[in-house]
Amino acid sequence: MNQVTFAKIQEQFAQDVYKGLTDSPKHLASKYIYDEKGDLLFEEIMNLQEYYLTSCELDILKIHKAQITDLFLQNTRSLNLVELGAGNGKKTRIILEELQHRDANFHYVPIDISDNALRRLQNSLSEEFPGLKVKPKQGTYFNKLKTITSSTSTKNVILFLGSNIGNLPHKKAIEFLAQLAREMHQNDMIFLGCDQKKNPQTILDAYNDPYGKTEAFNKNLLQRINKELHANFNLDNFLHWEAYNPETGTAKSFLVSKIAQRVRIESLDLEISFAPWETIHTEISQKYDDALIAELAKSAGLRIENQFSDRKEYFKNYVLMKTTPAK
Ligand code: TRP
Repeated sequence: MNQVTFAKIQEQFAQDVYKGLTDSPKHLASKYIYDEKGDLLFEEIMNLQEYYLTSCELDILKIHKAQITDLFLQNTRSLNLVELGAGNGKKTRIILEELQHRDANFHYVPIDISDNALRRLQNSLSEEFPGLKVKPKQGTYFNKLKTITSSTSTKNVILFLGSNIGNLPHKKAIEFLAQLAREMHQNDMIFLGCDQKKNPQTILDAYNDPYGKTEAFNKNLLQRINKELHANFNLDNFLHWEAYNPETGTAKSFLVSKIAQRVRIESLDLEISFAPWETIHTEISQKYDDALIAELAKSAGLRIENQFSDRKEYFKNYVLMKTTPAK
């Protein structure tokens, strides 16, 4: 990341922290959990038995890779495989391998805000997949997506994995999908990972593991504020809390203040007071079923073309296409 981008993000971070902690009820955006330490903790969460999301989606890709790439290559022999968020590429590898195996003519285009993540991904891929055409794009999803879809008539398949869509409330999720739809050509596809409604206990266990990894991950937000905005949060005075509403399918993560306390944030020249058991909301992780996805897709001008599930039906990947005819 260059200096200017870094400064801008810092400034945005400071603003968002100010807004979130002076609001009532208090909230902080989960995207700020992911600094270097947050990335590491999330890797550890993804390797936990309890956090079934990653292994289930990996399962789907392994079981259905032939049929999935059939769909991607439907009506074409060349394509851009665009991925929103670079990640570690563990899941994407399955698809890349299958496309190479089929001798498909394709570019892999990971888009990410973090230069670092892109570089790491590209390095590891170039060793494993010699000859793979990787075109990483550093920037925000829509700015970069625009440059891809407007400059090519090649079919685009947009991967958005890990149920990251679930971190958006429905209204925002629809706006997000509608924006994607606007950038898509008629033949383009979205391949969307969506965690499913299931036994509420299974969901609670995934978001509140007994080893304290999720707790440390969520609290990393406070640590980051301490480090970057010179605050004095005492992490022991907060606990991680997870709530799941089986009626709406919404899981919510909180940090809860165990005592009455005041916290000073030097860089913002701000003092925040907490009442005993006052909350900071940090994340929503929406769980879906077919009806809900159909509804979101429809509102965004998309339809479900196909879907794939793991053996336990814990997770699904939907293939979405545009409903309206091309402009
Ligand atoms: N956003 C991811 C998810 O919904 C990551 C995550 C897992 C998370 N556990 C969390 C975010 C706890 C905040 C708090 O699955």
